[in-house]
Amino acid sequence: MSLRKELLVGVLIAGVTAMSGVAMAQGVATPRGPNPTAAAMKNPVAADAASIERGKKIYDAKCANCHKADGTGAEGGPGESGPPPSNLTHAKLEHGQSDGEIFVITKNGVLPDLYMPMFEGVIKDNDIWDTVNYIQNKLRKK
Ligand code: HEC
Repeated sequence: MSLRKELLVGVLIAGVTAMSGVAMAQGVATPRGPNPTAAAMKNPVAADAASIERGKKIYDAKCANCHKADGTGAEGGPGESGPPPSNLTHAKLEHGQSDGEIFVITKNGVLPDLYMPMFEGVIKDNDIWDTVNYIQNKLRKK
Protein backbone atom coordinates (compact mmCIF):
# COMPACT_ATOMS: atom_id res chain seq x y z
CA MET A 1 0.00 0.00 0.00
CA SER A 2 1.32 3.41 -0.89
CA LEU A 3 2.01 5.90 1.88
CA ARG A 4 -0.80 8.05 0.50
CA LYS A 5 -3.33 5.19 0.74
CA GLU A 6 -2.15 4.25 4.23
CA LEU A 7 -2.67 7.83 5.35
CA LEU A 8 -6.14 7.87 3.82
CA VAL A 9 -7.11 4.63 5.59
CA GLY A 10 -5.75 6.01 8.84
CA VAL A 11 -7.81 9.16 8.50
CA LEU A 12 -10.92 7.12 7.69
CA ILE A 13 -10.46 4.87 10.74
CA ALA A 14 -9.89 7.90 12.98
CA GLY A 15 -13.05 9.48 11.60
CA VAL A 16 -15.20 6.41 12.16
CA THR A 17 -13.82 6.03 15.71
CA ALA A 18 -14.58 9.67 16.47
CA MET A 19 -18.11 9.29 15.10
CA SER A 20 -18.84 6.21 17.19
CA GLY A 21 -17.56 8.16 20.22
CA VAL A 22 -20.16 10.82 19.53
CA ALA A 23 -22.86 8.18 19.10
CA MET A 24 -21.89 6.65 22.47
CA ALA A 25 -21.96 10.03 24.21
CA GLN A 26 -25.43 10.67 22.78
CA GLY A 27 -26.50 7.22 24.00
CA VAL A 28 -26.12 8.22 27.67
CA ALA A 29 -29.69 8.32 28.89
CA THR A 30 -30.92 8.17 32.47
CA PRO A 31 -32.75 4.84 32.73
CA ARG A 32 -36.46 5.01 33.60
CA GLY A 33 -37.55 3.11 36.67
CA PRO A 34 -36.09 2.57 40.12
CA ASN A 35 -32.37 3.05 40.82
CA PRO A 36 -31.34 0.56 43.55
CA THR A 37 -27.86 2.08 43.97
CA ALA A 38 -29.37 5.51 44.61
CA ALA A 39 -32.08 4.02 46.82
CA ALA A 40 -29.35 2.55 49.06
CA MET A 41 -27.91 6.02 49.79
CA LYS A 42 -28.45 7.23 53.33
CA ASN A 43 -29.87 10.73 53.68
CA PRO A 44 -27.27 12.47 55.88
CA VAL A 45 -29.60 15.37 56.78
CA ALA A 46 -32.27 14.72 59.41
CA ALA A 47 -35.71 15.75 58.15
CA ASP A 48 -36.37 18.13 61.05
CA ALA A 49 -38.40 21.34 60.82
CA ALA A 50 -35.30 23.45 60.08
CA SER A 51 -34.21 21.24 57.16
CA ILE A 52 -37.73 21.13 55.70
CA GLU A 53 -37.92 24.93 55.94
CA ARG A 54 -34.55 25.33 54.17
CA GLY A 55 -35.72 22.84 51.55
CA LYS A 56 -38.92 24.79 50.93
CA LYS A 57 -36.92 27.95 50.19
CA ILE A 58 -34.73 26.10 47.69
CA TYR A 59 -37.71 24.33 46.12
CA ASP A 60 -39.67 27.56 45.71
CA ALA A 61 -36.64 29.29 44.16
CA LYS A 62 -35.32 26.53 41.89
CA CYS A 63 -38.00 23.90 41.27
CA ALA A 64 -41.44 25.49 41.55
CA ASN A 65 -41.14 27.29 38.20
CA CYS A 66 -41.42 23.89 36.52
CA HIS A 67 -42.91 21.53 39.13
CA LYS A 68 -45.30 24.20 40.55
CA ALA A 69 -45.32 25.35 44.16
CA ASP A 70 -47.56 22.43 45.16
CA GLY A 71 -45.41 19.89 43.27
CA THR A 72 -48.11 18.88 40.77
CA GLY A 73 -45.93 19.87 37.81
CA ALA A 74 -47.27 19.22 34.31
CA GLU A 75 -48.59 22.25 32.39
CA GLY A 76 -46.45 24.71 34.31
CA GLY A 77 -43.35 23.53 32.48
CA PRO A 78 -40.90 24.85 29.98
CA GLY A 79 -43.48 24.57 27.18
CA GLU A 80 -41.05 22.89 24.81
CA SER A 81 -41.46 19.64 22.98
CA GLY A 82 -39.91 17.77 25.93
CA PRO A 83 -41.68 15.78 28.64
CA PRO A 84 -43.79 17.78 31.10
CA PRO A 85 -42.27 18.40 34.54
CA SER A 86 -43.20 15.41 36.69
CA ASN A 87 -45.89 15.49 39.33
CA LEU A 88 -43.79 15.09 42.49
CA THR A 89 -46.84 14.55 44.73
CA HIS A 90 -47.43 11.01 43.43
CA ALA A 91 -46.88 8.19 45.92
CA LYS A 92 -44.75 6.44 43.29
CA LEU A 93 -42.31 8.39 41.12
CA GLU A 94 -41.04 7.24 37.75
CA HIS A 95 -37.38 7.24 38.82
CA GLY A 96 -38.14 5.92 42.30
CA GLN A 97 -39.34 7.76 45.40
CA SER A 98 -36.68 7.01 48.02
CA ASP A 99 -34.63 9.93 49.36
CA GLY A 100 -31.55 8.73 47.45
CA GLU A 101 -33.39 8.33 44.13
CA ILE A 102 -34.86 11.85 44.34
CA PHE A 103 -31.42 13.18 45.37
CA VAL A 104 -29.66 11.57 42.39
CA ILE A 105 -32.23 12.80 39.82
CA THR A 106 -32.00 16.32 41.26
CA LYS A 107 -28.21 16.26 41.23
CA ASN A 108 -27.72 14.63 37.79
CA GLY A 109 -30.89 15.59 35.94
CA VAL A 110 -32.53 13.33 33.37
CA LEU A 111 -30.12 12.65 30.49
CA PRO A 112 -29.66 13.08 27.61
CA ASP A 113 -31.96 16.07 27.05
CA LEU A 114 -31.89 17.53 30.57
CA TYR A 115 -35.46 18.80 30.38
CA MET A 116 -35.01 17.99 34.06
CA PRO A 117 -31.80 20.00 34.54
CA MET A 118 -28.82 18.83 36.60
CA PHE A 119 -28.25 20.82 39.77
CA GLU A 120 -24.74 19.54 40.43
CA GLY A 121 -22.61 22.63 41.04
CA VAL A 122 -25.75 24.77 41.39
CA ILE A 123 -27.15 23.45 44.67
CA LYS A 124 -24.78 22.00 47.29
CA ASP A 125 -25.37 18.34 48.21
CA ASN A 126 -26.64 19.10 51.73
CA ASP A 127 -29.03 21.68 50.28
CA ILE A 128 -30.33 19.06 47.80
CA TRP A 129 -30.99 16.76 50.78
CA ASP A 130 -32.95 19.61 52.42
CA THR A 131 -34.98 19.90 49.20
CA VAL A 132 -35.56 16.11 49.27
CA ASN A 133 -36.74 16.40 52.89
CA TYR A 134 -39.20 19.11 51.86
CA ILE A 135 -40.56 17.10 48.89
CA GLN A 136 -40.89 13.94 50.99
CA ASN A 137 -42.59 15.53 53.97
CA LYS A 138 -44.70 18.32 52.47
CA LEU A 139 -45.39 17.55 48.81
CA ARG A 140 -45.40 13.81 48.19
CA LYS A 141 -48.39 11.69 49.19
CA LYS A 142 -47.14 8.54 50.85
C1 HEC B 1 -36.72 23.57 33.68
C2 HEC B 1 -37.75 22.84 34.36
C3 HEC B 1 -37.39 22.05 35.60
C4 HEC B 1 -36.81 22.51 36.76
C5 HEC B 1 -36.32 23.90 37.07
C6 HEC B 1 -36.78 21.37 37.66
N1 HEC B 1 -37.29 20.27 37.06
FE1 HEC B 1 -37.46 18.42 37.87
N2 HEC B 1 -38.19 17.69 36.09
C7 HEC B 1 -38.45 18.45 34.98
C8 HEC B 1 -38.91 17.60 33.91
C9 HEC B 1 -39.29 18.05 32.51
C10 HEC B 1 -38.93 16.28 34.43
C11 HEC B 1 -39.31 15.02 33.67
C12 HEC B 1 -38.06 14.58 32.95
C13 HEC B 1 -38.24 13.35 32.12
O1 HEC B 1 -39.19 12.59 32.34
O2 HEC B 1 -37.39 13.13 31.24
C14 HEC B 1 -38.48 16.39 35.81
C15 HEC B 1 -38.35 15.31 36.66
C16 HEC B 1 -37.99 15.41 38.01
C17 HEC B 1 -37.93 14.31 38.93
C18 HEC B 1 -38.23 12.85 38.60
C19 HEC B 1 -39.70 12.58 38.92
C20 HEC B 1 -40.09 11.12 38.78
O3 HEC B 1 -41.30 10.86 38.56
O4 HEC B 1 -39.24 10.23 38.91
C21 HEC B 1 -37.56 14.80 40.15
C22 HEC B 1 -37.37 14.02 41.44
C23 HEC B 1 -37.37 16.22 39.97
N3 HEC B 1 -37.63 16.55 38.67
C24 HEC B 1 -36.99 17.07 40.99
C25 HEC B 1 -36.68 18.42 40.80
C26 HEC B 1 -36.16 19.28 41.86
C27 HEC B 1 -35.93 18.87 43.29
C28 HEC B 1 -35.95 20.50 41.27
C29 HEC B 1 -35.36 21.74 41.90
C30 HEC B 1 -34.10 21.62 42.59
C31 HEC B 1 -36.34 20.39 39.87
N4 HEC B 1 -36.79 19.13 39.64
C32 HEC B 1 -36.29 21.43 38.94
C33 HEC B 1 -38.26 19.82 34.85
C34 HEC B 1 -37.68 20.64 35.80
